[in-house]
Amino acid sequence: MTTYSLLILPGDGIGPEVMAEVRKVIGWFETNRGLSFDVSEDLVGGAAYDKHGKPLSDETMARAQSVDAVLLGAVGGPKYDNLDFSVKPERGLLRLRKEMDLFANLRPAQCFDALADFSSLKRDVVAGLDILIVRELTSGVYFGEPRGIHSDDNNPQNEGGRVGINTQRYTSGEIRRVARAAFELARKRGNRVCSMEKANVMESGILWREEVQWVHDNEYADVELSHMYADNGAMQLVRNPRQFDVIVTDNLFGDLLSDAAAMLTGSLGMLPSASLGAPMANGRPKAMYEPVHGSAPDIAGQGKANPIACILSFAMALRYSYDLGAEADLLERAVEKVLADGVRTADLMGPQGGKPVSTAEMGDHIVKALSEL
Ligand code: NAD
Ligand code: IPM
Ligand code: MN
Repeated sequence: MTTYSLLILPGDGIGPEVMAEVRKVIGWFETNRGLSFDVSEDLVGGAAYDKHGKPLSDETMARAQSVDAVLLGAVGGPKYDNLDFSVKPERGLLRLRKEMDLFANLRPAQCFDALADFSSLKRDVVAGLDILIVRELTSGVYFGEPRGIHSDDNNPQNEGGRVGINTQRYTSGEIRRVARAAFELARKRGNRVCSMEKANVMESGILWREEVQWVHDNEYADVELSHMYADNGAMQLVRNPRQFDVIVTDNLFGDLLSDAAAMLTGSLGMLPSASLGAPMANGRPKAMYEPVHGSAPDIAGQGKANPIACILSFAMALRYSYDLGAEADLLERAVEKVLADGVRTADLMGPQGGKPVSTAEMGDHIVKALSEL
Protein backbone atom coordinates (compact mmCIF):
# COMPACT_ATOMS: atom_id res chain seq x y z
CA MET A 1 0.00 0.00 0.00
CA THR A 2 1.25 3.50 -0.79
CA THR A 3 2.09 5.59 2.22
CA TYR A 4 1.93 9.34 1.68
CA SER A 5 4.44 11.32 3.70
CA LEU A 6 3.40 14.70 5.08
CA LEU A 7 5.32 17.13 7.25
CA ILE A 8 3.01 19.36 9.27
CA LEU A 9 4.38 22.72 10.41
CA PRO A 10 1.58 24.36 12.44
CA GLY A 11 3.57 27.51 13.29
CA ASP A 12 2.10 30.34 15.32
CA GLY A 13 -1.16 32.01 16.33
CA ILE A 14 -4.14 30.31 14.70
CA GLY A 15 -1.78 27.96 12.78
CA PRO A 16 -1.99 25.13 15.37
CA GLU A 17 -5.74 25.70 15.78
CA VAL A 18 -6.58 25.26 12.09
CA MET A 19 -4.07 22.41 11.74
CA ALA A 20 -5.89 20.39 14.43
CA GLU A 21 -8.89 20.35 12.09
CA VAL A 22 -6.80 19.09 9.17
CA ARG A 23 -5.67 16.25 11.47
CA LYS A 24 -9.32 15.22 11.82
CA VAL A 25 -9.70 15.19 8.03
CA ILE A 26 -6.56 13.09 7.61
CA GLY A 27 -7.92 10.69 10.25
CA TRP A 28 -11.17 10.40 8.32
CA PHE A 29 -9.41 9.46 5.09
CA GLU A 30 -7.31 6.87 6.93
CA THR A 31 -10.28 5.27 8.66
CA ASN A 32 -12.81 5.48 5.84
CA ARG A 33 -10.78 5.35 2.66
CA GLY A 34 -7.93 3.08 3.76
CA LEU A 35 -5.31 5.69 2.92
CA SER A 36 -2.06 5.64 4.81
CA PHE A 37 -0.35 8.90 5.72
CA ASP A 38 3.04 9.10 7.39
CA VAL A 39 2.50 12.37 9.26
CA SER A 40 5.31 14.06 11.14
CA GLU A 41 5.18 17.42 12.87
CA ASP A 42 7.80 20.07 13.49
CA LEU A 43 8.30 23.71 14.44
CA VAL A 44 8.46 26.80 12.25
CA GLY A 45 8.30 30.54 12.84
CA GLY A 46 8.04 31.96 16.33
CA ALA A 47 7.49 28.49 17.78
CA ALA A 48 10.84 27.38 16.32
CA TYR A 49 12.51 30.59 17.48
CA ASP A 50 11.34 29.96 21.04
CA LYS A 51 12.98 26.52 21.01
CA HIS A 52 16.01 26.92 18.72
CA GLY A 53 16.65 30.68 18.55
CA LYS A 54 15.88 30.62 14.83
CA PRO A 55 12.66 30.37 12.85
CA LEU A 56 13.60 27.16 11.03
CA SER A 57 16.22 24.64 12.12
CA ASP A 58 18.47 22.91 9.59
CA GLU A 59 16.95 19.58 10.68
CA THR A 60 13.44 20.79 9.89
CA MET A 61 14.64 22.16 6.55
CA ALA A 62 16.13 18.76 5.69
CA ARG A 63 12.89 16.98 6.69
CA ALA A 64 10.89 19.33 4.48
CA GLN A 65 13.14 18.41 1.55
CA SER A 66 12.59 14.69 2.09
CA VAL A 67 8.78 14.39 2.28
CA ASP A 68 6.12 14.19 -0.43
CA ALA A 69 4.48 17.36 0.87
CA VAL A 70 4.68 19.99 3.60
CA LEU A 71 1.58 21.62 5.12
CA LEU A 72 2.23 24.90 6.92
CA GLY A 73 -0.25 26.73 9.16
CA ALA A 74 0.93 30.31 9.66
CA VAL A 75 3.87 32.16 11.15
CA GLY A 76 4.42 35.43 12.99
CA GLY A 77 2.79 37.52 15.65
CA PRO A 78 3.29 40.57 17.85
CA LYS A 79 5.50 38.67 20.30
CA TYR A 80 8.13 38.42 17.56
CA ASP A 81 7.70 41.79 15.88
CA ASN A 82 10.81 43.34 17.43
CA LEU A 83 13.19 40.44 16.78
CA ASP A 84 16.22 40.97 14.62
CA PHE A 85 15.15 40.75 10.96
CA SER A 86 17.27 37.64 10.32
CA VAL A 87 15.37 35.56 12.89
CA LYS A 88 11.85 36.86 12.37
CA PRO A 89 9.23 34.06 11.99
CA GLU A 90 8.57 35.07 8.37
CA ARG A 91 12.21 34.29 7.52
CA GLY A 92 11.52 30.61 8.28
CA LEU A 93 8.71 30.49 5.75
CA LEU A 94 10.77 32.33 3.14
CA ARG A 95 13.68 29.93 3.67
CA LEU A 96 11.41 26.95 3.04
CA ARG A 97 10.08 28.48 -0.17
CA LYS A 98 13.54 29.47 -1.40
CA GLU A 99 15.51 26.32 -0.54
CA MET A 100 12.77 24.02 -1.84
CA ASP A 101 12.68 26.26 -4.94
CA LEU A 102 8.88 26.51 -4.83
CA PHE A 103 8.60 29.05 -7.61
CA ALA A 104 4.90 28.70 -8.51
CA ASN A 105 2.38 29.65 -5.86
CA LEU A 106 -1.15 28.70 -6.87
CA ARG A 107 -3.78 30.79 -5.11
CA PRO A 108 -7.26 29.86 -6.31
CA ALA A 109 -10.11 32.19 -5.39
CA GLN A 110 -13.48 30.55 -5.73
CA CYS A 111 -16.72 32.00 -4.48
CA PHE A 112 -18.89 29.22 -3.08
CA ASP A 113 -22.50 29.99 -3.90
CA ALA A 114 -23.49 29.85 -0.24
CA LEU A 115 -21.04 32.68 0.49
CA ALA A 116 -21.88 34.98 -2.41
CA ASP A 117 -23.77 37.29 -0.03
CA PHE A 118 -20.86 37.42 2.43
CA SER A 119 -18.38 38.95 0.02
CA SER A 120 -17.85 42.66 0.44
CA LEU A 121 -18.89 42.92 -3.22
CA LYS A 122 -22.37 42.35 -4.58
CA ARG A 123 -23.57 38.81 -5.33
CA ASP A 124 -23.95 39.50 -9.05
CA VAL A 125 -20.26 40.53 -9.22
CA VAL A 126 -18.83 37.49 -7.40
CA ALA A 127 -21.31 34.59 -7.81
CA GLY A 128 -19.61 31.70 -9.60
CA LEU A 129 -16.18 33.34 -9.36
CA ASP A 130 -13.34 30.88 -10.09
CA ILE A 131 -9.97 32.45 -10.73
CA LEU A 132 -6.43 31.25 -10.14
CA ILE A 133 -3.59 33.58 -9.24
CA VAL A 134 -0.17 32.12 -10.02
CA ARG A 135 2.30 34.10 -7.94
CA GLU A 136 6.06 33.83 -8.55
CA LEU A 137 7.39 32.88 -5.13
CA THR A 138 11.18 32.59 -5.01
CA SER A 139 12.50 35.79 -6.56
CA GLY A 140 11.67 39.44 -7.16
CA VAL A 141 11.88 42.10 -4.50
CA TYR A 142 11.53 39.50 -1.71
CA PHE A 143 14.98 38.12 -2.46
CA GLY A 144 16.79 40.58 -4.77
CA GLU A 145 20.22 41.99 -3.86
CA PRO A 146 21.36 44.51 -2.76
CA ARG A 147 19.10 44.82 0.24
CA GLY A 148 19.35 46.13 3.80
CA ILE A 149 19.17 49.18 5.98
CA HIS A 150 22.30 51.31 5.74
CA SER A 151 23.53 54.58 7.11
CA ASP A 152 23.41 57.48 4.69
CA ASP A 153 25.51 59.82 6.81
CA ASN A 154 27.25 61.46 3.88
CA ASN A 155 23.97 62.80 2.58
CA PRO A 156 23.20 65.99 4.53
CA GLN A 157 19.82 66.30 2.76
CA ASN A 158 18.61 63.05 4.35
CA GLU A 159 17.00 63.70 7.71
CA GLY A 160 17.56 60.64 9.90
CA GLY A 161 20.65 59.59 7.93
CA ARG A 162 19.47 56.09 6.89
CA VAL A 163 18.43 54.32 3.70
CA GLY A 164 16.41 51.10 3.27
CA ILE A 165 17.03 49.10 0.11
CA ASN A 166 15.27 46.19 -1.63
CA THR A 167 15.81 45.20 -5.21
CA GLN A 168 13.29 43.96 -7.72
CA ARG A 169 15.27 41.49 -9.84
CA TYR A 170 14.02 38.84 -12.25
CA THR A 171 15.92 36.69 -14.70
CA SER A 172 14.34 35.60 -17.95
CA GLY A 173 14.54 31.99 -16.79
CA GLU A 174 12.63 32.74 -13.59
CA ILE A 175 9.89 34.45 -15.57
CA ARG A 176 9.68 31.72 -18.21
CA ARG A 177 9.28 28.88 -15.72
CA VAL A 178 6.42 30.50 -13.80
CA ALA A 179 4.79 31.53 -17.09
CA ARG A 180 4.89 27.89 -18.22
CA ALA A 181 3.23 26.84 -14.97
CA ALA A 182 0.45 29.38 -15.57
CA PHE A 183 -0.10 28.33 -19.20
CA GLU A 184 -0.18 24.63 -18.24
CA LEU A 185 -2.80 25.34 -15.57
CA ALA A 186 -4.83 27.53 -17.94
CA ARG A 187 -5.07 24.69 -20.45
CA LYS A 188 -6.85 22.62 -17.78
CA ARG A 189 -9.29 25.47 -16.99
CA GLY A 190 -10.57 28.37 -19.10
CA ASN A 191 -7.49 28.54 -21.37
CA ARG A 192 -6.85 32.24 -20.63
CA VAL A 193 -3.89 33.90 -18.91
CA CYS A 194 -3.62 37.54 -17.88
CA SER A 195 -0.09 38.61 -16.95
CA MET A 196 0.30 41.56 -14.56
CA GLU A 197 3.34 43.80 -14.01
CA LYS A 198 4.22 47.47 -14.21
CA ALA A 199 6.08 47.57 -17.51
CA ASN A 200 5.22 51.26 -17.70
CA VAL A 201 7.59 52.12 -14.82
CA MET A 202 9.88 49.11 -14.18
CA GLU A 203 12.48 47.48 -16.43
CA SER A 204 11.83 44.18 -14.65
CA GLY A 205 8.23 44.65 -15.72
CA ILE A 206 9.25 45.11 -19.35
CA LEU A 207 11.31 41.91 -19.16
CA TRP A 208 8.37 40.13 -17.50
CA ARG A 209 6.00 41.12 -20.28
CA GLU A 210 8.43 40.18 -23.05
CA GLU A 211 9.30 36.79 -21.57
CA VAL A 212 5.69 35.80 -20.85
CA GLN A 213 4.86 36.77 -24.43
CA TRP A 214 7.85 34.72 -25.70
CA VAL A 215 6.72 31.59 -23.82
CA HIS A 216 3.23 32.11 -25.18
CA ASP A 217 4.26 32.61 -28.80
CA ASN A 218 6.73 29.72 -28.82
CA GLU A 219 5.01 27.12 -26.66
CA TYR A 220 1.42 28.04 -25.76
CA ALA A 221 -0.02 29.93 -28.73
CA ASP A 222 -3.30 28.04 -28.19
CA VAL A 223 -3.84 29.81 -24.84
CA GLU A 224 -5.30 33.33 -24.88
CA LEU A 225 -2.81 35.78 -23.34
CA SER A 226 -3.39 39.37 -22.24
CA HIS A 227 -1.22 41.83 -20.31
CA MET A 228 -2.33 44.35 -17.72
CA TYR A 229 -0.60 46.85 -15.45
CA ALA A 230 -0.89 45.52 -11.93
CA ASP A 231 -2.56 48.64 -10.52
CA ASN A 232 -5.28 48.38 -13.14
CA GLY A 233 -5.38 44.65 -12.34
CA ALA A 234 -6.17 45.43 -8.71
CA MET A 235 -9.00 47.70 -9.81
CA GLN A 236 -10.33 45.16 -12.33
CA LEU A 237 -10.27 42.45 -9.63
CA VAL A 238 -12.82 44.35 -7.59
CA ARG A 239 -14.72 45.82 -10.58
CA ASN A 240 -15.31 42.62 -12.52
CA PRO A 241 -13.30 39.68 -11.16
CA ARG A 242 -14.97 37.09 -13.37
CA GLN A 243 -13.24 38.52 -16.45
CA PHE A 244 -10.13 36.58 -15.30
CA ASP A 245 -9.23 32.92 -15.55
CA VAL A 246 -5.53 32.57 -14.63
CA ILE A 247 -3.51 35.59 -13.49
CA VAL A 248 0.27 35.28 -13.49
CA THR A 249 2.28 37.88 -11.63
CA ASP A 250 5.41 38.51 -9.59
CA ASN A 251 6.07 37.82 -5.93
CA LEU A 252 5.00 41.15 -4.41
CA PHE A 253 2.10 41.96 -6.74
CA GLY A 254 0.88 38.38 -6.27
CA ASP A 255 0.94 38.79 -2.50
CA LEU A 256 -1.22 41.91 -2.66
CA LEU A 257 -3.58 40.77 -5.41
CA SER A 258 -4.29 37.44 -3.70
CA ASP A 259 -5.26 39.09 -0.41
CA ALA A 260 -7.64 41.30 -2.39
CA ALA A 261 -9.01 38.26 -4.24
CA ALA A 262 -9.56 36.56 -0.88
CA MET A 263 -12.20 39.06 0.13
CA LEU A 264 -14.12 38.36 -3.08
CA THR A 265 -14.72 34.85 -1.74
CA GLY A 266 -16.11 36.03 1.58
CA SER A 267 -13.09 35.79 3.88
CA LEU A 268 -9.32 35.47 3.95
CA GLY A 269 -10.03 32.38 6.04
CA MET A 270 -11.24 30.62 2.88
CA LEU A 271 -8.20 30.84 0.61
CA PRO A 272 -5.82 27.88 0.23
CA SER A 273 -2.57 27.77 -1.71
CA ALA A 274 -0.07 25.35 -3.18
CA SER A 275 3.58 26.30 -3.58
CA LEU A 276 5.08 24.06 -6.22
CA GLY A 277 8.60 23.48 -7.53
CA ALA A 278 10.14 21.34 -10.21
CA PRO A 279 9.15 17.66 -10.44
CA MET A 280 10.99 15.23 -8.15
CA ALA A 281 12.20 11.77 -9.19
CA ASN A 282 8.67 10.37 -8.73
CA GLY A 283 7.31 12.91 -11.22
CA ARG A 284 5.45 14.92 -8.57
CA PRO A 285 6.42 18.51 -7.81
CA LYS A 286 8.26 19.44 -4.68
CA ALA A 287 5.50 21.07 -2.69
CA MET A 288 4.36 23.02 0.32
CA TYR A 289 0.71 23.85 1.00
CA GLU A 290 -0.23 26.91 3.01
CA PRO A 291 -3.38 28.90 3.66
CA VAL A 292 -3.06 32.44 2.30
CA HIS A 293 -3.91 33.98 5.66
CA GLY A 294 -1.49 34.69 8.49
CA SER A 295 -1.40 33.89 12.20
CA ALA A 296 -4.34 36.25 12.92
CA PRO A 297 -3.11 37.43 16.34
CA ASP A 298 -6.37 39.34 16.91
CA ILE A 299 -8.36 36.09 17.16
CA ALA A 300 -5.66 33.52 18.12
CA GLY A 301 -6.46 31.29 21.08
CA GLN A 302 -10.19 32.04 20.97
CA GLY A 303 -11.43 29.16 18.82
CA LYS A 304 -12.73 31.62 16.24
CA ALA A 305 -10.44 30.89 13.30
CA ASN A 306 -11.89 29.52 10.09
CA PRO A 307 -10.04 26.25 9.32
CA ILE A 308 -11.33 26.01 5.73
CA ALA A 309 -8.29 27.66 4.07
CA CYS A 310 -6.01 25.10 5.72
CA ILE A 311 -8.36 22.18 4.99
CA LEU A 312 -8.62 23.23 1.33
CA SER A 313 -4.82 23.51 1.25
CA PHE A 314 -4.73 19.85 2.28
CA ALA A 315 -7.19 19.13 -0.57
CA MET A 316 -4.65 20.71 -2.92
CA ALA A 317 -2.00 18.37 -1.46
CA LEU A 318 -4.26 15.40 -2.18
CA ARG A 319 -4.53 16.58 -5.78
CA TYR A 320 -1.01 17.76 -6.62
CA SER A 321 1.28 15.71 -4.37
CA TYR A 322 -0.56 12.42 -3.89
CA ASP A 323 -2.47 12.20 -7.17
CA LEU A 324 -5.69 11.63 -5.21
CA GLY A 325 -7.93 13.85 -7.32
CA ALA A 326 -11.17 12.06 -6.37
CA GLU A 327 -10.40 12.47 -2.66
CA ALA A 328 -9.56 16.16 -3.24
CA ASP A 329 -12.91 16.64 -5.02
CA LEU A 330 -14.71 14.88 -2.17
CA LEU A 331 -13.11 17.13 0.45
CA GLU A 332 -13.97 20.25 -1.53
CA ARG A 333 -17.57 19.06 -1.88
CA ALA A 334 -17.72 18.44 1.88
CA VAL A 335 -16.68 22.05 2.50
CA GLU A 336 -19.26 23.24 -0.03
CA LYS A 337 -21.99 21.17 1.65
CA VAL A 338 -21.23 22.50 5.11
CA LEU A 339 -21.38 26.07 3.81
CA ALA A 340 -24.61 25.35 1.94
CA ASP A 341 -26.03 24.00 5.21
CA GLY A 342 -25.40 27.43 6.73
CA VAL A 343 -22.52 26.49 9.04
CA ARG A 344 -20.38 29.61 9.57
CA THR A 345 -17.33 30.61 11.54
CA ALA A 346 -17.36 34.19 12.83
CA ASP A 347 -15.49 35.60 9.81
CA LEU A 348 -18.32 34.38 7.54
CA MET A 349 -21.08 36.15 9.44
CA GLY A 350 -22.83 38.63 7.19
CA PRO A 351 -24.49 41.81 8.40
CA GLN A 352 -27.60 39.81 9.35
CA GLY A 353 -25.56 38.02 12.04
CA GLY A 354 -26.36 34.60 13.49
CA LYS A 355 -24.53 32.19 15.74
CA PRO A 356 -21.05 31.28 14.57
CA VAL A 357 -19.49 27.87 15.15
CA SER A 358 -16.01 27.44 16.62
CA THR A 359 -12.92 26.28 14.73
CA ALA A 360 -13.32 22.77 16.13
CA GLU A 361 -17.03 22.63 15.33
CA MET A 362 -16.38 23.64 11.73
CA GLY A 363 -13.84 20.80 11.48
CA ASP A 364 -16.38 18.36 12.94
CA HIS A 365 -19.03 19.46 10.46
CA ILE A 366 -16.67 18.94 7.52
CA VAL A 367 -15.71 15.45 8.72
CA LYS A 368 -19.39 14.60 9.17
CA ALA A 369 -20.14 15.86 5.65
CA LEU A 370 -17.37 13.62 4.29
CA SER A 371 -19.25 10.62 5.66
CA GLU A 372 -22.57 11.83 4.29
CA LEU A 373 -21.48 12.47 0.70
P1 NAD B 1 -3.60 37.83 8.93
O1 NAD B 1 -3.90 37.10 7.69
O2 NAD B 1 -2.99 37.07 10.04
O3 NAD B 1 -4.95 38.53 9.46
C1 NAD B 1 -5.66 39.51 8.71
C2 NAD B 1 -7.12 39.56 9.20
O4 NAD B 1 -7.81 38.40 8.72
C3 NAD B 1 -7.27 39.53 10.71
O5 NAD B 1 -8.35 40.33 11.10
C4 NAD B 1 -7.57 38.07 11.02
O6 NAD B 1 -8.32 37.86 12.19
C5 NAD B 1 -8.35 37.65 9.78
N1 NAD B 1 -8.12 36.22 9.49
C6 NAD B 1 -7.01 35.68 8.94
N2 NAD B 1 -7.12 34.35 8.86
C7 NAD B 1 -8.33 34.03 9.36
C8 NAD B 1 -9.03 32.81 9.55
N3 NAD B 1 -8.50 31.62 9.18
N4 NAD B 1 -10.26 32.84 10.10
C9 NAD B 1 -10.81 34.02 10.47
N5 NAD B 1 -10.21 35.21 10.30
C10 NAD B 1 -8.98 35.21 9.77
O7 NAD B 1 -2.64 39.07 8.52
P2 NAD B 1 -1.88 40.16 9.44
O8 NAD B 1 -2.71 40.50 10.62
O9 NAD B 1 -1.45 41.19 8.51
O10 NAD B 1 -0.58 39.39 9.93
C11 NAD B 1 -0.45 38.75 11.20
C12 NAD B 1 0.87 37.97 11.25
O11 NAD B 1 0.80 36.89 10.33
C13 NAD B 1 2.09 38.80 10.83
O12 NAD B 1 3.16 38.42 11.66
C14 NAD B 1 2.33 38.37 9.39
O13 NAD B 1 3.67 38.50 8.99
C15 NAD B 1 1.92 36.94 9.44
N6 NAD B 1 1.49 36.37 8.16
C16 NAD B 1 1.88 35.08 7.94
C17 NAD B 1 1.47 34.44 6.80
C18 NAD B 1 1.87 33.01 6.61
O14 NAD B 1 2.34 32.40 7.53
N7 NAD B 1 1.68 32.44 5.45
C19 NAD B 1 0.65 35.11 5.88
C20 NAD B 1 0.26 36.43 6.15
C21 NAD B 1 0.69 37.05 7.31
C1 IPM C 1 1.89 35.22 2.42
C2 IPM C 1 2.52 36.05 3.50
C3 IPM C 1 4.03 35.97 3.40
C4 IPM C 1 4.46 36.67 2.13
C5 IPM C 1 4.83 36.50 4.60
C6 IPM C 1 4.33 36.01 5.91
C7 IPM C 1 6.28 36.15 4.43
O1 IPM C 1 2.04 37.36 3.46
O2 IPM C 1 2.19 34.02 2.32
O3 IPM C 1 1.06 35.75 1.66
O4 IPM C 1 4.61 37.91 2.12
O5 IPM C 1 4.67 35.98 1.15
MN1 MN D 1 0.38 37.66 2.05
